[in-house]
Amino acid sequence: MREAMANAVVGDDVLDGDPSVERLQKIAAQWLGKDGALFVPSGTMANQIAMGSWTRPGDEIVVQRFAHVTTFEGGATSALHGLQTMTVGDLSGSMEPVDVEQSLRPVFIHCPKSALICMEQTHNMAGGRISPMESVQGISAIARREGIPMHLDGARLANAVVATGISAPEWCQHFGSVSLCLSKGLGAPVGSIIAGSEGFLERARVVRKRLGGWMRQAGHLAEAARIALEQNVERLQEDHDLARFLAEALACMPGLQVDVASVESNIVMVNLAEELPDAAGAIEFLEKHGVRVSSMGARRLRLVTHMDVGREHGDRLLKTMGELCER
Ligand SMILES: Cc1ncc(COP(=O)(O)O)c(C=O)c1O
Repeated sequence: MREAMANAVVGDDVLDGDPSVERLQKIAAQWLGKDGALFVPSGTMANQIAMGSWTRPGDEIVVQRFAHVTTFEGGATSALHGLQTMTVGDLSGSMEPVDVEQSLRPVFIHCPKSALICMEQTHNMAGGRISPMESVQGISAIARREGIPMHLDGARLANAVVATGISAPEWCQHFGSVSLCLSKGLGAPVGSIIAGSEGFLERARVVRKRLGGWMRQAGHLAEAARIALEQNVERLQEDHDLARFLAEALACMPGLQVDVASVESNIVMVNLAEELPDAAGAIEFLEKHGVRVSSMGARRLRLVTHMDVGREHGDRLLKTMGELCER
Protein backbone atom coordinates (compact mmCIF):
# COMPACT_ATOMS: atom_id res chain seq x y z
CA MET A 1 0.00 0.00 0.00
CA ARG A 2 2.81 2.41 0.90
CA GLU A 3 4.63 1.53 -2.31
CA ALA A 4 1.49 2.19 -4.36
CA MET A 5 1.05 5.53 -2.58
CA ALA A 6 4.62 6.55 -3.37
CA ASN A 7 4.30 5.52 -7.02
CA ALA A 8 0.84 7.05 -7.61
CA VAL A 9 0.35 9.07 -10.79
CA VAL A 10 -1.23 12.30 -9.60
CA GLY A 11 -2.78 15.45 -11.00
CA ASP A 12 -4.74 18.31 -9.48
CA ASP A 13 -8.21 16.97 -8.78
CA VAL A 14 -9.56 20.45 -8.05
CA LEU A 15 -8.19 21.88 -11.30
CA ASP A 16 -8.43 19.34 -14.10
CA GLY A 17 -8.43 15.92 -12.52
CA ASP A 18 -6.21 13.39 -10.79
CA PRO A 19 -6.01 10.05 -12.64
CA SER A 20 -5.59 7.97 -9.48
CA VAL A 21 -8.58 9.63 -7.82
CA GLU A 22 -10.67 9.11 -10.95
CA ARG A 23 -9.64 5.45 -11.11
CA LEU A 24 -10.61 4.89 -7.47
CA GLN A 25 -13.94 6.67 -7.92
CA LYS A 26 -14.78 4.46 -10.91
CA ILE A 27 -13.86 1.25 -9.06
CA ALA A 28 -15.79 2.30 -5.95
CA ALA A 29 -18.88 3.30 -7.93
CA GLN A 30 -18.85 -0.05 -9.70
CA TRP A 31 -18.40 -1.94 -6.42
CA LEU A 32 -21.40 -0.12 -4.95
CA GLY A 33 -23.50 -0.36 -8.13
CA LYS A 34 -23.86 3.43 -8.48
CA ASP A 35 -23.39 5.84 -11.41
CA GLY A 36 -20.46 7.57 -9.81
CA ALA A 37 -18.58 8.38 -6.62
CA LEU A 38 -16.51 11.11 -4.96
CA PHE A 39 -13.40 10.47 -2.89
CA VAL A 40 -13.53 12.56 0.31
CA PRO A 41 -11.36 12.80 3.45
CA SER A 42 -13.67 11.13 5.97
CA GLY A 43 -16.84 9.17 6.60
CA THR A 44 -18.23 12.15 8.46
CA MET A 45 -17.78 14.36 5.43
CA ALA A 46 -19.28 11.73 3.14
CA ASN A 47 -22.40 11.56 5.33
CA GLN A 48 -22.66 15.31 5.68
CA ILE A 49 -22.36 15.81 1.92
CA ALA A 50 -25.40 13.54 1.61
CA MET A 51 -27.30 15.46 4.30
CA GLY A 52 -26.65 18.77 2.54
CA SER A 53 -27.40 17.38 -0.92
CA TRP A 54 -30.84 15.94 -0.15
CA THR A 55 -32.25 18.56 2.18
CA ARG A 56 -32.97 22.24 2.85
CA PRO A 57 -32.73 24.06 6.20
CA GLY A 58 -35.77 23.33 8.36
CA ASP A 59 -36.23 19.81 6.97
CA GLU A 60 -36.28 16.72 9.16
CA ILE A 61 -34.32 13.50 8.66
CA VAL A 62 -35.41 10.10 9.99
CA VAL A 63 -32.47 8.18 11.48
CA GLN A 64 -31.82 5.07 13.52
CA ARG A 65 -31.35 5.65 17.25
CA PHE A 66 -27.67 6.29 18.07
CA ALA A 67 -26.77 6.57 14.39
CA HIS A 68 -23.31 7.99 13.78
CA VAL A 69 -24.71 10.80 11.69
CA THR A 70 -26.51 12.32 14.68
CA THR A 71 -24.47 10.90 17.59
CA PHE A 72 -20.84 11.34 16.56
CA GLU A 73 -20.69 14.05 13.92
CA GLY A 74 -20.57 17.04 16.25
CA GLY A 75 -24.15 18.13 15.58
CA ALA A 76 -23.24 18.78 11.93
CA THR A 77 -26.75 18.01 10.68
CA SER A 78 -28.06 21.06 12.54
CA ALA A 79 -24.91 23.21 12.60
CA LEU A 80 -24.18 22.90 8.89
CA HIS A 81 -27.50 22.10 7.25
CA GLY A 82 -30.19 23.40 9.63
CA LEU A 83 -31.83 20.00 9.96
CA GLN A 84 -33.80 18.52 12.80
CA THR A 85 -33.85 14.80 13.42
CA MET A 86 -36.45 12.16 14.19
CA THR A 87 -34.71 9.15 15.76
CA VAL A 88 -36.37 5.75 15.69
CA GLY A 89 -35.65 2.28 17.06
CA ASP A 90 -33.70 1.16 20.13
CA LEU A 91 -30.11 0.34 21.11
CA SER A 92 -30.24 -2.90 19.15
CA GLY A 93 -29.92 -0.67 16.10
CA SER A 94 -33.08 -2.04 14.57
CA MET A 95 -35.13 0.15 12.25
CA GLU A 96 -38.30 -1.40 10.97
CA PRO A 97 -40.75 -0.24 8.31
CA VAL A 98 -43.38 0.38 10.98
CA ASP A 99 -41.00 2.75 12.85
CA VAL A 100 -40.44 4.74 9.69
CA GLU A 101 -44.11 4.76 8.72
CA GLN A 102 -45.02 6.20 12.12
CA SER A 103 -42.33 8.86 12.11
CA LEU A 104 -42.97 10.46 8.72
CA ARG A 105 -44.61 13.87 8.94
CA PRO A 106 -47.80 14.68 7.12
CA VAL A 107 -47.53 17.29 4.39
CA PHE A 108 -48.85 20.09 6.59
CA ILE A 109 -47.79 23.72 6.95
CA HIS A 110 -47.16 23.25 10.71
CA CYS A 111 -44.73 20.34 10.25
CA PRO A 112 -41.18 20.09 8.98
CA LYS A 113 -40.74 18.15 5.77
CA SER A 114 -39.55 14.53 6.18
CA ALA A 115 -36.77 14.94 3.63
CA LEU A 116 -34.45 11.96 4.06
CA ILE A 117 -34.36 8.50 5.63
CA CYS A 118 -30.93 7.36 6.86
CA MET A 119 -29.79 3.88 7.77
CA GLU A 120 -26.42 2.68 9.10
CA GLN A 121 -25.02 -0.65 7.94
CA THR A 122 -23.45 -2.11 10.02
CA HIS A 123 -24.65 -0.16 13.06
CA ASN A 124 -21.66 0.98 15.10
CA MET A 125 -23.32 1.75 18.46
CA ALA A 126 -25.39 -1.41 18.26
CA GLY A 127 -22.16 -3.43 18.12
CA GLY A 128 -21.80 -3.87 14.37
CA ARG A 129 -25.28 -5.33 13.93
CA ILE A 130 -26.75 -5.76 10.49
CA SER A 131 -30.21 -4.55 9.46
CA PRO A 132 -31.79 -7.47 7.61
CA MET A 133 -32.57 -7.13 3.92
CA GLU A 134 -36.32 -7.49 4.60
CA SER A 135 -36.25 -4.37 6.79
CA VAL A 136 -34.29 -2.42 4.18
CA GLN A 137 -36.71 -3.52 1.45
CA GLY A 138 -39.75 -2.60 3.55
CA ILE A 139 -38.39 0.85 4.41
CA SER A 140 -37.35 1.45 0.83
CA ALA A 141 -40.87 0.62 -0.37
CA ILE A 142 -42.30 3.25 2.00
CA ALA A 143 -39.67 5.78 0.92
CA ARG A 144 -40.47 5.21 -2.77
CA ARG A 145 -44.19 5.50 -2.12
CA GLU A 146 -43.68 8.80 -0.27
CA GLY A 147 -41.04 10.12 -2.67
CA ILE A 148 -38.42 10.42 0.10
CA PRO A 149 -34.77 9.64 -0.71
CA MET A 150 -32.72 7.22 1.40
CA HIS A 151 -29.08 7.56 2.46
CA LEU A 152 -26.97 4.64 3.68
CA ASP A 153 -24.15 5.32 6.12
CA GLY A 154 -22.18 2.36 4.84
CA ALA A 155 -18.97 3.14 6.72
CA ARG A 156 -18.81 -0.62 7.38
CA LEU A 157 -20.94 -1.82 4.48
CA ALA A 158 -18.11 -4.13 3.39
CA ASN A 159 -18.48 -5.95 6.73
CA ALA A 160 -22.19 -6.46 6.06
CA VAL A 161 -21.43 -7.73 2.55
CA VAL A 162 -18.96 -10.32 3.84
CA ALA A 163 -21.15 -11.34 6.79
CA THR A 164 -24.32 -11.83 4.74
CA GLY A 165 -23.05 -12.78 1.28
CA ILE A 166 -25.39 -10.07 -0.09
CA SER A 167 -23.46 -7.92 -2.57
CA ALA A 168 -22.97 -4.18 -2.17
CA PRO A 169 -25.15 -3.32 -5.20
CA GLU A 170 -27.98 -5.45 -3.76
CA TRP A 171 -27.87 -3.40 -0.56
CA CYS A 172 -27.25 -0.09 -2.32
CA GLN A 173 -30.08 -0.36 -4.87
CA HIS A 174 -32.41 0.77 -2.07
CA PHE A 175 -30.49 3.99 -1.38
CA GLY A 176 -30.07 7.16 -3.41
CA SER A 177 -26.70 7.80 -1.79
CA VAL A 178 -24.19 5.63 0.04
CA SER A 179 -21.07 6.44 2.04
CA LEU A 180 -18.29 3.88 2.45
CA CYS A 181 -15.14 4.16 4.58
CA LEU A 182 -11.94 2.86 3.03
CA SER A 183 -10.15 3.44 6.31
CA LYS A 184 -11.34 1.48 9.37
CA GLY A 185 -11.56 -2.27 8.68
CA LEU A 186 -10.44 -1.96 5.04
CA GLY A 187 -7.12 -0.52 6.17
CA ALA A 188 -6.51 2.63 4.11
CA PRO A 189 -4.90 5.43 6.12
CA VAL A 190 -7.47 8.04 5.00
CA GLY A 191 -10.55 8.37 2.90
CA SER A 192 -14.19 7.65 2.23
CA ILE A 193 -16.51 7.47 -0.72
CA ILE A 194 -19.86 9.12 -1.31
CA ALA A 195 -21.70 7.54 -4.23
CA GLY A 196 -24.99 7.95 -6.05
CA SER A 197 -26.67 8.85 -9.31
CA GLU A 198 -25.36 11.58 -11.62
CA GLY A 199 -28.16 13.89 -10.41
CA PHE A 200 -27.17 13.35 -6.77
CA LEU A 201 -23.48 13.85 -7.52
CA GLU A 202 -24.13 17.18 -9.17
CA ARG A 203 -25.48 18.50 -5.86
CA ALA A 204 -22.89 16.55 -3.86
CA ARG A 205 -19.99 18.28 -5.68
CA VAL A 206 -21.37 21.67 -4.61
CA VAL A 207 -21.70 20.62 -0.97
CA ARG A 208 -18.22 19.02 -1.01
CA LYS A 209 -16.81 22.30 -2.30
CA ARG A 210 -18.57 24.24 0.47
CA LEU A 211 -17.17 21.88 3.09
CA GLY A 212 -13.65 22.20 1.68
CA GLY A 213 -13.51 18.50 0.92
CA TRP A 214 -12.09 18.66 -2.58
CA MET A 215 -8.45 17.58 -2.40
CA ARG A 216 -5.72 18.40 -4.93
CA GLN A 217 -2.92 15.81 -5.46
CA ALA A 218 -5.02 13.25 -3.64
CA GLY A 219 -3.91 10.38 -5.88
CA HIS A 220 -1.42 9.27 -3.24
CA LEU A 221 -4.32 8.68 -0.85
CA ALA A 222 -6.58 7.29 -3.57
CA GLU A 223 -4.06 4.58 -4.41
CA ALA A 224 -4.08 3.37 -0.79
CA ALA A 225 -7.88 3.45 -0.81
CA ARG A 226 -8.02 1.48 -4.08
CA ILE A 227 -5.84 -1.27 -2.63
CA ALA A 228 -8.01 -1.33 0.49
CA LEU A 229 -11.12 -1.90 -1.61
CA GLU A 230 -9.56 -4.33 -4.08
CA GLN A 231 -7.59 -6.46 -1.64
CA ASN A 232 -9.00 -6.17 1.86
CA VAL A 233 -12.71 -6.96 1.62
CA GLU A 234 -12.63 -10.76 1.69
CA ARG A 235 -10.29 -10.85 4.68
CA LEU A 236 -12.91 -9.09 6.84
CA GLN A 237 -14.21 -12.58 7.60
CA GLU A 238 -11.07 -13.12 9.73
CA ASP A 239 -12.05 -10.04 11.79
CA HIS A 240 -15.58 -11.40 12.22
CA ASP A 241 -14.29 -14.82 13.28
CA LEU A 242 -11.94 -13.25 15.82
CA ALA A 243 -14.72 -11.01 17.19
CA ARG A 244 -16.99 -14.04 17.66
CA PHE A 245 -14.17 -16.02 19.32
CA LEU A 246 -13.47 -13.15 21.73
CA ALA A 247 -17.17 -12.65 22.50
CA GLU A 248 -17.62 -16.31 23.37
CA ALA A 249 -14.57 -16.32 25.65
CA LEU A 250 -15.47 -13.01 27.36
CA ALA A 251 -19.05 -14.15 27.96
CA CYS A 252 -17.66 -16.86 30.27
CA MET A 253 -15.75 -14.43 32.48
CA PRO A 254 -17.34 -13.43 35.80
CA GLY A 255 -18.68 -9.87 35.79
CA LEU A 256 -18.71 -9.46 32.03
CA GLN A 257 -21.94 -9.45 30.10
CA VAL A 258 -21.68 -10.12 26.38
CA ASP A 259 -24.56 -10.88 24.03
CA VAL A 260 -22.73 -13.36 21.82
CA ALA A 261 -25.64 -13.76 19.40
CA SER A 262 -25.52 -10.06 18.59
CA VAL A 263 -21.92 -10.23 17.37
CA GLU A 264 -22.56 -10.22 13.64
CA SER A 265 -19.40 -8.53 12.34
CA ASN A 266 -16.21 -7.05 13.86
CA ILE A 267 -17.50 -5.27 16.99
CA VAL A 268 -18.03 -6.71 20.47
CA MET A 269 -19.82 -4.76 23.18
CA VAL A 270 -18.98 -5.73 26.76
CA ASN A 271 -20.96 -4.60 29.81
CA LEU A 272 -19.09 -4.42 33.12
CA ALA A 273 -20.85 -5.51 36.33
CA GLU A 274 -20.98 -3.18 39.35
CA GLU A 275 -18.24 -5.11 41.21
CA LEU A 276 -15.74 -4.44 38.41
CA PRO A 277 -14.05 -1.11 37.64
CA ASP A 278 -16.12 1.16 35.40
CA ALA A 279 -15.29 1.66 31.71
CA ALA A 280 -12.72 4.40 32.42
CA GLY A 281 -10.96 2.22 35.00
CA ALA A 282 -11.04 -0.83 32.73
CA ILE A 283 -9.63 1.13 29.80
CA GLU A 284 -6.76 2.41 31.95
CA PHE A 285 -5.96 -1.10 33.18
CA LEU A 286 -6.14 -2.61 29.68
CA GLU A 287 -4.04 0.17 28.17
CA LYS A 288 -1.26 -0.51 30.71
CA HIS A 289 -1.17 -4.04 29.29
CA GLY A 290 -1.06 -2.89 25.67
CA VAL A 291 -4.74 -3.40 24.84
CA ARG A 292 -6.76 -0.48 23.47
CA VAL A 293 -10.55 -0.52 23.63
CA SER A 294 -13.05 2.31 23.75
CA SER A 295 -15.90 3.18 26.05
CA MET A 296 -19.52 3.38 24.89
CA GLY A 297 -21.06 4.33 28.21
CA ALA A 298 -20.12 4.34 31.90
CA ARG A 299 -19.98 0.53 32.09
CA ARG A 300 -19.82 -0.44 28.44
CA LEU A 301 -16.71 -1.22 26.39
CA ARG A 302 -16.44 -1.48 22.62
CA LEU A 303 -13.90 -3.90 21.13
CA VAL A 304 -13.15 -3.73 17.41
CA THR A 305 -11.18 -6.28 15.42
CA HIS A 306 -9.36 -5.23 12.26
CA MET A 307 -6.48 -6.18 9.99
CA ASP A 308 -3.78 -5.16 12.46
CA VAL A 309 -5.25 -7.34 15.21
CA GLY A 310 -4.52 -11.06 15.14
CA ARG A 311 -5.23 -14.07 17.32
CA GLU A 312 -2.14 -13.33 19.48
CA HIS A 313 -3.56 -9.89 20.29
CA GLY A 314 -6.89 -11.51 21.04
CA ASP A 315 -5.17 -13.85 23.49
CA ARG A 316 -3.54 -10.86 25.19
CA LEU A 317 -6.92 -9.18 25.50
CA LEU A 318 -8.45 -12.29 27.07
CA LYS A 319 -5.58 -12.70 29.53
CA THR A 320 -5.80 -9.05 30.57
CA MET A 321 -9.59 -9.10 30.83
CA GLY A 322 -9.27 -12.24 32.94
CA GLU A 323 -6.93 -10.38 35.32
CA LEU A 324 -9.35 -7.44 35.47
CA CYS A 325 -12.20 -9.74 36.46
CA GLU A 326 -10.13 -11.47 39.16
CA ARG A 327 -9.04 -8.23 40.86
C1 LIG B 1 -21.05 4.26 11.18
C2 LIG B 1 -20.01 5.31 10.99
N1 LIG B 1 -20.22 6.27 10.09
C3 LIG B 1 -19.34 7.25 9.87
C4 LIG B 1 -18.15 7.30 10.58
C5 LIG B 1 -17.23 8.46 10.35
O1 LIG B 1 -16.02 8.15 9.81
P1 LIG B 1 -14.78 9.14 9.97
O2 LIG B 1 -14.20 8.86 11.30
O3 LIG B 1 -13.90 8.77 8.82
O4 LIG B 1 -15.27 10.53 9.86
C6 LIG B 1 -17.89 6.31 11.54
C7 LIG B 1 -16.64 6.36 12.33
O5 LIG B 1 -16.46 5.66 13.28
C8 LIG B 1 -18.84 5.30 11.76
O6 LIG B 1 -18.67 4.36 12.69
